[in-house]
Amino acid sequence: MKNNAIIITGANGNVGSYFAKKYCDLGENLILIIHKSDHRIKELVNDHSDRIRVLKVDLSDYSMLKIKLAEIITETDWEPDRLIHTATARSSTIKSLADSDPEMWKNIINANLVGTFNILKTTLKYFKENSNGKIVLFGSNVSRIGLPKGTAYAASKAGIANIGRTLAAEEAASNIIVNTVSPGPIKIDDSQFSESYRKFRQEYYEEKLRETPLKRCASFQDIFGLCEFLLSKDNSYITGEEFFITGGKI
Ligand SMILES: NC(=O)c1ccc[n+]([C@@H]2O[C@H](COP(=O)([O-])OP(=O)(O)OC[C@H]3O[C@@H](n4cnc5c(N)ncnc54)[C@H](OP(=O)(O)O)[C@@H]3O)[C@@H](O)[C@H]2O)c1
Repeated sequence: MKNNAIIITGANGNVGSYFAKKYCDLGENLILIIHKSDHRIKELVNDHSDRIRVLKVDLSDYSMLKIKLAEIITETDWEPDRLIHTATARSSTIKSLADSDPEMWKNIINANLVGTFNILKTTLKYFKENSNGKIVLFGSNVSRIGLPKGTAYAASKAGIANIGRTLAAEEAASNIIVNTVSPGPIKIDDSQFSESYRKFRQEYYEEKLRETPLKRCASFQDIFGLCEFLLSKDNSYITGEEFFITGGKI
C-alpha cells in the first residue's frame, strides 16, 4: 500500500506555509513547491525530512515542473491525492490598465494562469492513474469585484475559478474533485512587499474592512477550516464551486 501525499504550491508563502505546518502536524506526507525563497518552511523541512520533499521551480516552466515532480514521486513512492494551489504572482507596480506595461501584464498572467495550467496538468496525471484526487485552487474576492490598478491579478484570479469549474466537470468521472477558495483580505506578514505596494494594500484593506460586516480580515485558520473539509474524505459531492471567505461582504 502506497502512502498518500499532499502537494502545496506557494509553500513558502503566507497561506502556503501555514497549510504546510498544519498538514505536517496532522502526519501527512508533503511535497512543498517553492519559487525563490524557503525562509518560512526551512525549520519545518529540517525537522520532518522523512515526510517532506521540497521542489523549487517556477510554475510557468512546465518541463522543469514535470521532471522534478516525477523525480520526487519515483524517489518516495508516494501517491499524491490532494493539491493545494496557493502560489500567486502580484503586480507591485500598481498601475491602471491604460498605464500598465505589456510585459508586466504578461508575466502575471504567465505565472498565475499558465502556472495553474502547468501544476494541474502535471498533478492530474497522478490523480487520474488512481482515479482519486481533490484539488483546492486559490482565487480571490477580486474575481467578482475587480481590482483597480491590478487588472492582471484580477483577471488571473477570475480565470483560476473558471479553470476550477471546468476541470471539475471534465474530471468528475475520474473521481477528481476541484474547488476554488476565494478570500477577501487576509491578515498576513507583508514585510516582503515594497513600501509603495504595502501602502497600497493597507489603504485597500482599510476601505474593504469598512464594508465588511465582520470587521476583520480572514485569519489563516478561517481559510484552513474550509479547505481541510473540501479536501477531506467527507467531501465527495461538492465540486466546481467557488467559495468566498469575506466576512459577510457580498
Ligand atoms: N493575502 C491576501 O490577502 C489574499 C487575499 C485574497 C486571495 N489571496 C490568495 O491566496 C493565495 C495565498 O496568498 P498569500 O498571501 O499566501 O501569497 P504570498 O504570501 O505572496 O505567497 C505566494 C507564493 O507564490 C510563490 N510564487 C510566485 N510566483 C511563482 C511562480 N512563478 N512559481 C512558483 N511559485 C510562485 C511566491 O514565491 P516567491 O516569493 O519565492 O516568489 C510565494 O511564496 C494566493 O493565491 C492569493 O492570490 C490572498
